Amino acid sequence: MKKLGMVVVGLGFVGGQAHVPSVNKIKNAELVAVCDMNDTLATKYSEKYGCKKYLGVKEALKDPAIDAAIIAVPTPFHYAVAMDFIKAGKHVLLEMPLGVDMPQTNKIIAAAKKAKVTLMPSLNFRFAPIYQRIKDMIYKDKILGKGPVAIHYREYISANLLAAQWPPNSWAWDKKKSGGPLFTLSVWSIDLFRWLLGAEIVQLHSVAENHKLAKYGGTHGYMGYAIAEFSNGTIVSAQYSGGVSQDQTIVTMELVGENTNMINAIDTHTIKVMADDPKETVYKVDVSGPRVWGHYQEVEHFVDSILKGKQPQITPEDGRIATEAGVKIAKMYRQL
Ligand SMILES: NC(=O)c1ccc[n+]([C@@H]2O[C@H](COP(=O)([O-])OP(=O)(O)OC[C@H]3O[C@@H](n4cnc5c(N)ncnc54)[C@H](O)[C@@H]3O)[C@@H](O)[C@H]2O)c1
Repeated sequence: MKKLGMVVVGLGFVGGQAHVPSVNKIKNAELVAVCDMNDTLATKYSEKYGCKKYLGVKEALKDPAIDAAIIAVPTPFHYAVAMDFIKAGKHVLLEMPLGVDMPQTNKIIAAAKKAKVTLMPSLNFRFAPIYQRIKDMIYKDKILGKGPVAIHYREYISANLLAAQWPPNSWAWDKKKSGGPLFTLSVWSIDLFRWLLGAEIVQLHSVAENHKLAKYGGTHGYMGYAIAEFSNGTIVSAQYSGGVSQDQTIVTMELVGENTNMINAIDTHTIKVMADDPKETVYKVDVSGPRVWGHYQEVEHFVDSILKGKQPQITPEDGRIATEAGVKIAKMYRQL
């Protein structure tokens, strides 16, 4: 079988650390090139993985060996970069949120449809082994009886991590340019709730605050809270907070069943079930590397879908819905 020739564009936090090593390991994919305007990064990855390096998108577009691109540039550049690849007839796995607003997002989706190329939004939480196990616990094992009546989700990013990843002048803080951190961060969990519940949001409300972290060079701290009701009646509360503590980065999700049982996902490797047995049962999820958050699995699914001529499980409409919810959640975030 022919391999899918791929380029990863944007070699920062997610492109370099998650997507490049994933493509490199996938049997039916060939990492033809890496692309970043930062020459140090482009050189580092091209040497490490033995592929070509491009310092600009225009050079990559001319390469006939490239069939598909993974676009992991900062969100403000998604529109321009994605449109270039789509118009050149290349398939695109596009990081989320799709655009910085709905007009950009809708234009990207329409362009992919017109060009008849695959556009898959990078909604990798669906592929994370911990959340796949939880979906099985709900629907196959029926641990929550008829299903969850409520989900409580919390995403805390430590001040140390924020200061390293997003310094005060980062694109991520600029609400006008990028939609701001609540927009950037809420899209994956919103999609996760839709996927876990098989339901749509019927109402969504949010509040947020934003402050400077003086001890961390002035990078930002934020507390954002969203409450949503889904079409199946489940209530979801989600907290997106950065700079809660110096070192604690944690993602937890509690799912409360109509039968009073509860499932608690703690980060990526631990699930606690509180059921009839008065003791809680702890399950460990055995996974490592770029599979932990589902990046490897989503790229593998993207590659297989294209090679087999199938529509990937995650559609442009899934990306549009998550982006639209992100816009609503980020509305209350004040630009400092
Ligand atoms: N799926 C996930 O798990 C996940 C996690 C984090 C971020 N993201 C998303 O991924 C995107 C990138 O986020 P990040 O945190 O990795 O950003 P980053 O700032 O760490 O890295 C972005 C890289 O893109 C490069 N770049 C910028 N413009 C470019 C261009 N026109 N051509 C080539 N290279 C260019 C920069 O030099 C930088 O190296 C964002 O949309 C973000 O929302 C997704």
